Amino acid sequence: MKILGDTLNLKECPQVNSILMSDPKYYTVSYAINNHMIDEFGELNQVNPMKALQEWLSLKRCFEKIGYPVKTIPPVSGLPDLVFSANQSFPLPDGRVVLSKMRSEERAPEVKVFKSWYEGQGINEFIEMESYFESMGDILWHPGSMLLWGGHGFRTEEAALEELFNKTNIPIIPLKLINESFYHLDTCFSLLDSKTLAYYPGAFEEETNAFLEKWFERTIILEEEEALKNFAGNCYCPDGKNVLLHPGSTKFDIKLLKLGFKIHHIRTGEFIKGGGSVFCMKLPLFL
Ligand code: ARG
Repeated sequence: MKILGDTLNLKECPQVNSILMSDPKYYTVSYAINNHMIDEFGELNQVNPMKALQEWLSLKRCFEKIGYPVKTIPPVSGLPDLVFSANQSFPLPDGRVVLSKMRSEERAPEVKVFKSWYEGQGINEFIEMESYFESMGDILWHPGSMLLWGGHGFRTEEAALEELFNKTNIPIIPLKLINESFYHLDTCFSLLDSKTLAYYPGAFEEETNAFLEKWFERTIILEEEEALKNFAGNCYCPDGKNVLLHPGSTKFDIKLLKLGFKIHHIRTGEFIKGGGSVFCMKLPLFL
């Protein structure tokens, strides 16, 4: 594992000020680009649009309740996965925005939609990527620090992490993903606060797991069932205190409560049918 940059003298990262979500009007499952999108007979999952809207609205309300204003991107017909707003762009604290280069043809046009949205907000400095890079599906801020954890293997290429480091100078710790059910880093790796990581070891090589155990003061090991079926690893803790997650991961809930986190259960079952949950459905903004 080749760490990119100096991870010992880290600068502070500014606070997240708001959240960007993408209107679920056209969300559905009309193709399968990850193995969560099909059922046990190999058919595409059926989404209930009313239920999806209710779930999306409860997530939005929860962010507002804990103090994060939510901005929304209008829906675009024919781009069902636009709703997973973590994946198209990666905003930097200095106001620039890295644009994704999506792996699949189906999702590639989503990036332009996000670019226009930023332009409408007066943001005009973009970083384009040559290698495949799926933004906050695979690149995650270490809470409070100018340090990134970068997943690669299925969507984001290892070369993209090097490219990102060369273009931004922000240190990155690359983590190789080896289990296709956990195709994005955010499906199996959740930074709860600067000392605490919740992760699913079955998504990584042995040496990565050993590295993570050494690096973090506290780790929570996610059970296979809770990580795979319930997307426990896709929870989101924006402030080191409130954890938003899909209900049903009782073992994880107990561990969170013991450590003093406050749990907010938000149903995301309709979005799990597309391969994502809470973390995938939002983008933290510094705006
Ligand atoms: N269907 C989408 C895809 O496969 C789901 C993306 C979920 N997002 C995430 N950050 N894991 O790309």
